[in-house]
Order: sequence, then C-alpha cells, then structure tokens
Amino acid sequence: MIAAEGMVPLPARVEGVERETHDTFTLEVTGEDAQLPAFQPGQFSMLYAFGIGELPISISSDPEDARRLSYTVRAVGKATEWVVSRQRDDRLGVRGPFGTGWPVEKARGRDLLVVAGGIGLAPLRPVIYQVLRHRPDFGRLILLYGARSPRDLLYRKQLSGWGRQPGFQVLTTVDYGGLQWKGNVGVVTTLLRSVRLEPERTVAMVCGPEIMMRFVATELEGRGLSHDDIFLSMERNMKCGIGHCGHCQHGPSFVCKDGPVFPYSNLGDWMHRHEI
Ligand SMILES: Cc1cc2nc3c(=O)[nH]c(=O)nc-3n(C[C@H](O)[C@H](O)[C@H](O)COP(=O)(O)OP(=O)(O)OC[C@H]3O[C@@H](n4cnc5c(N)ncnc54)[C@H](O)[C@@H]3O)c2cc1C
Ligand code: FES
Repeated sequence: MIAAEGMVPLPARVEGVERETHDTFTLEVTGEDAQLPAFQPGQFSMLYAFGIGELPISISSDPEDARRLSYTVRAVGKATEWVVSRQRDDRLGVRGPFGTGWPVEKARGRDLLVVAGGIGLAPLRPVIYQVLRHRPDFGRLILLYGARSPRDLLYRKQLSGWGRQPGFQVLTTVDYGGLQWKGNVGVVTTLLRSVRLEPERTVAMVCGPEIMMRFVATELEGRGLSHDDIFLSMERNMKCGIGHCGHCQHGPSFVCKDGPVFPYSNLGDWMHRHEI
C-alpha cells in the first residue's frame, strides 16, 4: 500500500530543550537523515509522540535558519506532556510543514501589528524573526502580548531585547500581576487603546484563545482596519493534517489545509457563531 503524500513522519532528533515557563518548553529539532523541510511563518508540523499519537504544533523558529526547527509546547495532556519531557538526543517523528502561513508579504512597506495571547506568540515568532531580518522593507512593528500571569509570559529575554529595537513597540499585559509586577494588568485588547494605528497602512496578525481573537478583531474593525488586513490563526483538533479526514472542519473550511491562518474577511460570520 502507498501512503498518501505527507503522511509519513520523518525521523528527527531533539538538539536542545529550553524551559519557557512552569508548563511550557521550546524544543529544537533536526532531521535525522536529512534536513527538515523549510516552512513559512504560521505553518505547523504534526509531531509523532511514540506510543501516543500525533499532535499539531506550530513552528516557532526563524524561517530563514534551515538547520533546525523549534516548537514551543504547553503541557496540557498526554501527547504534549510526552513532547515536553523529551531530552537532548531523544527521537520523535515530524510531518509537514502544513497549512497556510501568515501573509508577511502583505505587510511589506506597511506597519505590522502582532497581537498574541498565551501560547499564541509561538506561531507569530517566525513573523517577527522575518521582519527583523528584512527591517527596512517594513514600517512600524508593534507587538501586543497578553498572558495569564507574569510567570506565563513566553520568550521573556527576547521580549525585552525586541522592545529596545528602534521602530519596534512591545507592550505586554497580564490578567493577574501580583505584588512584584509593575506592568500592565488587563486583557490584551486594553493595550490596543494605547497604540497609534494608521488603519490604511496596517496589517494585523492575531493568535490566541478564540474569545480573545474575536474581541481583538472587533476592536480593530472599530479602529478602521479592513477585514482583509486582519489575519487570525484558528485551532481545531486534527488527525491527518492534509485535508483528508475532516476532523478539523470549521464552517466550510478545513483548518489544516485552508488555514490555520485565515483573513477575517473569510471568518467573520463563522467566528461569531459558537460551537463551530
Ligand atoms: C494548528 C495548530 C497549532 C498548534 N500549535 C501549538 C503550539 O505551538 N504549542 C502548543 O502547545 N500547542 C499547540 N496546539 C495545540 C496542541 O495541538 C494541543 O494542545 C495538543 O494536541 C493536546 O494534546 P494532548 O494529548 O497533550 O492533550 P489532550 O488530552 O488531547 O487535551 C488536553 C486539553 O487540551 C484541549 N485541547 C486539545 N487539543 C486542542 C486543540 N487543538 N485546540 C484547543 N484545545 C485543545 C482538550 O480539550 C483538553 O482540555 C496547536 C493546535 C493546532 C490545531
Ligand atoms: S486534520 Fe484531517 S482534514 Fe484536517
């Protein structure tokens, strides 16, 4: 029997593991027999957790560094716990990359607003790497990032480095700050109010819990951004990752193949209906 293209995992090896938060780790992975395929920012892999099954995980590394791929994974259940407990030199399987990417080209010559909630920063990090590599081609870069608490913020060192770069505004907020936290407290939409936007020259890329994306998209619409300039990354349970099984259906689309990144103009109606 011949397996459908894209269905066979490639053998890969863990090169390094970095702890990001109490439950989230970033793994650097390389191909065992050959380099893993190149990817576009926003695409995901199906990781094969031996003895458990497969899970979709966004690629969080620099798309122009082909030597290794990074995955930032929050442990929420069996498969993710297996992935985050890998050590250097452990093996896993990798299929993909799959799905549509963020339309970085659309932001060329314009301002880019990146809005992330929690683990949603992982699939957006490749966009930031790409824009920083080609800085003169883009206008202002703005990152608004919200997490549950200060200890849930990902990539903390990078965040402060990015915030010192000219033309890169980085604002963070948390739901619960605690006594030590001197920064913003509140949902990520509150940050939008302190940002100057020029709607005609702004492209927005948003990833986080669906409720957060709904509020952000509505707010951006109110600030005058076109639905065609707002992009959101959707999550659905997945099995095949290549548009065969129907597990990831969202309205008329398959998230694995038509998404995960969609323009708001394609999603608006479906996003505001619950349980789809
Ligand atoms: C395109 C895509 C990209 C993703 N990228 C990342 C990533 O970069 N990092 C990361 O940590 N996770 C990511 N996820 C989510 C990840 O795939 C799930 O957390 C994982 O499959 C859960 O498997 P599990 O066996 O550990 O937990 P399970 O036992 O399957 O689930 C544990 C809990 O998580 C919920 N859950 C499981 N899968 C999903 C899902 N797809 N969406 C929402 N809730 C879910 C379950 O309802 C349950 O409450 C992504 C998902 C998709 C669809
Ligand atoms: S995961 Fe099978 S169709 Fe999308």
